[in-house]
Amino acid sequence: MTIKIGALISGGGTNLQAIIDACEQNAIDAEVSVVGSDNPDAKGLGRAEKHGIPQFVVDYRRIIKAVKEAPATVELPADIDLEDLGQRQSLLPANGDPGRLKRFLHSRVAAEVALIAELAAYRVDLVILAGFMRNLTPYFIDHFNKDPSLPRIMNIHPALLPAFPGVDGYGDTFRYGCKVGGCTVHFIDYGEDTGPIIGQRAFPIAESDTLADIQKKGLALEWELYPQCIQWFAEDRLRTVTLTQEIPGGGVGQRTVVKIAQPG
Ligand code: GAR
Repeated sequence: MTIKIGALISGGGTNLQAIIDACEQNAIDAEVSVVGSDNPDAKGLGRAEKHGIPQFVVDYRRIIKAVKEAPATVELPADIDLEDLGQRQSLLPANGDPGRLKRFLHSRVAAEVALIAELAAYRVDLVILAGFMRNLTPYFIDHFNKDPSLPRIMNIHPALLPAFPGVDGYGDTFRYGCKVGGCTVHFIDYGEDTGPIIGQRAFPIAESDTLADIQKKGLALEWELYPQCIQWFAEDRLRTVTLTQEIPGGGVGQRTVVKIAQPG
């Protein structure tokens, strides 16, 4: 079966390109049905255009500004409960300023209503975040994740998670003086760069390596890893499972992992 992908990007879109190429070469059983961005200037939108893939923009910056200046002008559907969403998300510290949290959720959810409306027409099986530099709230996540064992939103991150979450994974890896760097593809959950890990690739870092060297090595692996993880999804081989294991010396530990079934 060929799955339909909705891709969200913010920037250059080299991961998007790798995925489009894999689809066009029939290396993966997928098609990129639509590409969306939070950033009207994202270069990756041009890549989609070149391949005849529909694109859309939900201008987060404009929405965030409108919520800050005139919140009443940014309406949300009546069934959205920001307080409930605020309690379920885990992006901002619980002891944060409640006004700030409310504004954050108001603007992000308004943007997500628009994202969902744009994606709806394409009936996508999988949403991929390919350098999408915005956090998503439980409102968006729950819309796509109906079966807890089969999440439908993947992200790629430029570090070996859970090390170095955030906006500059390779920069953080470089500055920390790591001997190994890497990239991670994972299903997203309500946190920032958390959620069950599907695949990881690692590369060695030499003392003489510059940040640019690290980015180059990492991106080359990202372009292999993301299509691979999408193909596992397309083959319906991915499920999250919670494993309970006895801890030597007493007690039990639980962890949620992504199980990759043998090809069927
Ligand atoms: C990639 O390195 C990706 O891992 C990273 O942004 C870059 C996007 O490059 N994502 C994140 O940092 C998400 N937290 P691209 O636009 O060329 O694919």
